[in-house]
Amino acid sequence: MALEPAAYDIVIGDGLLTQLSETLSAACPAARYAVIADATVAEKFGRAVLEAADRVAPSDLFTFPAGERNKTAEQWQALSERLLAAGLGRDGAVVALGGGVSGDLAGFVAATYMRGVPYIQIPTTLLAMIDSSIGGKTGVDTAHGKNLIGAFHQPRAVVADVTTLGELPPVHFAAGMAEALKHGAIADRGYVDWIERDRQAILARDTEALVELVRRSVQIKAAVVAEDERETGKRAILNFGHTVAHAIEAASGYEVLHGEAVAMGMVAEAQLGTRIGVTEAGTSEALREALISFNLPIDPPEKSPAHLLEAMQRDKKVREGSVRFALLKRVGEPARRNTDNWTFEVPEREIISVLGSRV
Ligand SMILES: NC(=O)c1ccc[n+]([C@@H]2O[C@H](COP(=O)([O-])OP(=O)(O)OC[C@H]3O[C@@H](n4cnc5c(N)ncnc54)[C@H](O)[C@@H]3O)[C@@H](O)[C@H]2O)c1
Ligand SMILES: [Zn+2]
Repeated sequence: MALEPAAYDIVIGDGLLTQLSETLSAACPAARYAVIADATVAEKFGRAVLEAADRVAPSDLFTFPAGERNKTAEQWQALSERLLAAGLGRDGAVVALGGGVSGDLAGFVAATYMRGVPYIQIPTTLLAMIDSSIGGKTGVDTAHGKNLIGAFHQPRAVVADVTTLGELPPVHFAAGMAEALKHGAIADRGYVDWIERDRQAILARDTEALVELVRRSVQIKAAVVAEDERETGKRAILNFGHTVAHAIEAASGYEVLHGEAVAMGMVAEAQLGTRIGVTEAGTSEALREALISFNLPIDPPEKSPAHLLEAMQRDKKVREGSVRFALLKRVGEPARRNTDNWTFEVPEREIISVLGSRV
């Protein structure tokens, strides 16, 4: 199925990789393709994607070692130079195949290669299908923090083939579920209810359930992004749970997966919201139950609230913002502070108290 709240096609279904040649020639025609994937993903789907691309134009597969620690400027440079050495020209295009790491890194290569070539996203993790492949943010991590170097570069198409999720490790599947539940929490109570009702089918990775899951999540993310292309106002609500999550990730040296940290962050931020009278009582408990039922951890490994607060303040300094929270009114509804502001400041003592009460 195709959704069009964004300017490009987001195609969601099962078995889509078998029609990839058609999709490529229609949405992203090029004289040559560079398929970029991490080594794990390349092993699973590299050949199929390369063959499909090759039917449209001469194509090469470029791989890099899997894992967040490789989403770096060094990898960006190495890949860019390999594309140059292979002779990819301005009339070439990039196929970003894999999870969010591959999408962000390959997307940034595409954004900068000869000042920008077109690309398509083929997400193969749940998180990448519902989150990182939508919205056009690309980039790499630095020693100063995650995603600090990057560019907006919209893909020509996103092809989410849920059959690729069959062998995704359970921890990564759960991490994606945290973002799916976040989408429901900020926009659609009915979606959260459906996820809880169809939990067994989702966990069994039933194809129909996965298509529905990805479709509803993408619809929410794409609608929010379309309303606010440059992250000025409403897009902030996508960051529900993320102020605390970023601090937890940083304090753990990025050992905690992003989605896991978001699960922990949502529970904490719902509590914070209730403390300052913005979020309906019981919201945190409801989220906690849903997250646990999808095997997500909800207690941060970092036990010191002071350390987490410090990490938030460091993050704020690096990003030149203030420690602000996107909060809920209740499950399914974001809290709005005023006309164009969807974020809240929360007194430090409340942050310390909530993070401290959770250990
Ligand atoms: N651009 C954005 O808007 C945005 C939004 C959210 C997250 N992100 C970024 O996304 C990244 C996280 O993405 P991720 O969780 O997909 O991580 P990831 O890309 O590292 O994938 C997780 C692991 O799963 C493996 N894998 C991928 N697909 C598989 C499959 N189908 N079967 C088996 N194994 C598979 C990968 O090799 C990797 O080891 C972070 O860097 C984060 O910053 C970006
Ligand atoms: Zn996130």
